[in-house]
Amino acid sequence: MNIKPTLLGHVGAVAGAAISVRLSPNVASGIAIIGGKSYRIGQVGSFVRIPQGYHDLYGIVAEVGANAAPATPQGQPEVSDRWMTIQLVGEIVGTSFERGISQYPNVRDEVHLVTEEDLAVIYGTQDGGQVLIGRLASAEGIPVRIDLDKLVTRHSAVLGSTGAGKSTTVSSLLRSIALGGDAEAAQGFPSARILLLDIHGEYGRALESVSTVFRINPNAGAGELPLHIPFWALDPAELLAFLMGKLDDKQLTQILDRIMDYKVKAVSAQPAPGLDVNSMTADSPSPYSLKKLWSELLDPEVRTWLDQQRLQPALDEAGDPQTLKAPKYRPHGAGSAAPFINQVGVLGIRRQLDQMRSRLLDRQYDFLLHPGDWEPDLDSQSLKGLPELLEAWLGHSKPITILDLSGIPSPVVARLIGAILRIIYEGLFWGRDKSEGGIARPLLVVMEEAHRYLSKDADGPAREMVQRIVKEGRKFGIGAMVVSQRPSEVDDTILSQCGTFVALRLSNSADRTKVQASLPDNLAGVIDSLPVLRVGEAVITGEAARLPIRCRITLPREEHRPNSEDPAVAKRWMGDRLPEDYGRLAASWRAQSPTWTTLRVIRTKLPQQEIEAMERELVVSSNVVSIGYEPTTSTLEVEFKNGVYQYYNVPDAMYQQLMAAASKGQFINTYIKPAYPCSRV
Ligand SMILES: Nc1ncnc2c1ncn2[C@@H]1O[C@H](COP(=O)(O)OP(=O)(O)O)[C@@H](O)[C@H]1O
Ligand SMILES: [Mg+2]
Repeated sequence: MNIKPTLLGHVGAVAGAAISVRLSPNVASGIAIIGGKSYRIGQVGSFVRIPQGYHDLYGIVAEVGANAAPATPQGQPEVSDRWMTIQLVGEIVGTSFERGISQYPNVRDEVHLVTEEDLAVIYGTQDGGQVLIGRLASAEGIPVRIDLDKLVTRHSAVLGSTGAGKSTTVSSLLRSIALGGDAEAAQGFPSARILLLDIHGEYGRALESVSTVFRINPNAGAGELPLHIPFWALDPAELLAFLMGKLDDKQLTQILDRIMDYKVKAVSAQPAPGLDVNSMTADSPSPYSLKKLWSELLDPEVRTWLDQQRLQPALDEAGDPQTLKAPKYRPHGAGSAAPFINQVGVLGIRRQLDQMRSRLLDRQYDFLLHPGDWEPDLDSQSLKGLPELLEAWLGHSKPITILDLSGIPSPVVARLIGAILRIIYEGLFWGRDKSEGGIARPLLVVMEEAHRYLSKDADGPAREMVQRIVKEGRKFGIGAMVVSQRPSEVDDTILSQCGTFVALRLSNSADRTKVQASLPDNLAGVIDSLPVLRVGEAVITGEAARLPIRCRITLPREEHRPNSEDPAVAKRWMGDRLPEDYGRLAASWRAQSPTWTTLRVIRTKLPQQEIEAMERELVVSSNVVSIGYEPTTSTLEVEFKNGVYQYYNVPDAMYQQLMAAASKGQFINTYIKPAYPCSRV
């Protein structure tokens, strides 16, 4: 019988931070039972302890078996497979764990298995500033917390193949920051400030109650706000490239001069605090009118003159900048006959102006080119300006801001992300000493699908902005969290500046190599486990983690998971078909809005007596109390725990399927709420 049940073996060789350990003859591989708990012996990625008198060294098992044996002097490996290689990671002095080691172990020092009690010393101490992220994969009783200061100021990356659990990890972690972990008496960080760039629109529901969602087609009933990104906050050269396409240098300079001119006039008429007219440049974020720009650029291109001196314009019908109507001039005559063509101020940009006009009329781009209260009038004055925009995004009462970019046409997403980051960065940078700045209230920017706009060869300003954030953001209180399924495509500078890595299952070997090269700790054995991690299991390593550990990320409750779940193919193909209506499918496409509903505006309520008359049937469900249906008007009435709602134009078959569905709440959330107009009774 082994007197020390945790003894695994003895140090056989020491080479830098790598230690070879000879397993004791009486250690059987498999499972050891210590203090009533079972431990798997010699698992790659598990911890070992090497007692050194006053303190304990901690290491992580990198390799087990014949390959782990040190080479003998003859150059032949020892013929034994009872070896382990350990990477030293830190030491415990007293009760606190410190990364890095103050001394190396000696040959023949004992090597012990790490028990739950030992791990509880490392993870259990809940000093301030820690957030719960999950539980140890090897011992689910032990919560894993990470250091919030380091996570934000040293930046982080959440990496993993599609479906490995990145979005779930992000929403679990953000919720834990906002509210505290599920298990403990909820105590989060109510003044947290997090900006999430939600490329697929999956977080709104998951972070409900702790976030404010901005999206292009907001669901006002759910408290969402319209997303406006005023075009005048973009770099004007960038914007012109989008609006007009190719421009040569002369054309570009002239147009930029004109924009500058509008801005100066607008600021002189209505000064903005802090803005000095003399030091303004064309890219100062100050409103100007695009409609006016378009009409003033167009006029010289199309104008003709009645007289050779070019004093009397041959105007048939004036244009209207407000409605983007072009002026009508009489066509110029042949040869030297009147009317005469214009020669002053002509840039030769007819085609570019036509493109600009169609962009301005394209409803897809309303959020950018006609941004609500941020749209300037023809005098370049807008109701709301930069302060209101910053306040809307950064100053609301919830800890998390979700900018849902899912409705934005993909060609412009990268450009817009650059613009958004620029607004945020410049604001917090220049305001760093104020109480709303980044030092008094730091900001974490979470970027989903980062490979799409932060790749090595991405054009647009996003990559440059994020490089600035990861290099200097720490000083101004801006942290970045980069989320990606293709780390090998993400810009090197950005990834290598991330101090903390949450690496989920990663099957592509190029991606793994990239992660390994960026990791702050030297952990070959752990990286090798990346392709075999389970869904929702991550290796967390780097500054914010106490030890590089394999962790099961807390799976949030069903209603707090991101909307990214895969369609249940077999189940849906097997079940009955739901009523279909391709008219509304086409309408959704035309309106570029997945939530488009027929008769969106007609919200006639049933007469009061009918409402009372509608019989509702009690149902068994966690949030639905009863359901009623009125076939002549196709009205479905649902009593939720928090109130009664009517849905209009709901086909009878849909109601039948709802009543047959196993989960009423889920059925309503998936098929009824997004598809039918509704009002509260
Ligand atoms: N920690 C977890 N535990 C259990 N299942 C999880 C966990 N994280 C994610 N999943 C499941 O895995 C699937 C994909 O998760 P998701 O976060 O969308 O992945 P990704 O963003 O990496 O593509 C979802 O169905 C989700 O419920
Ligand atoms: Mg995802």
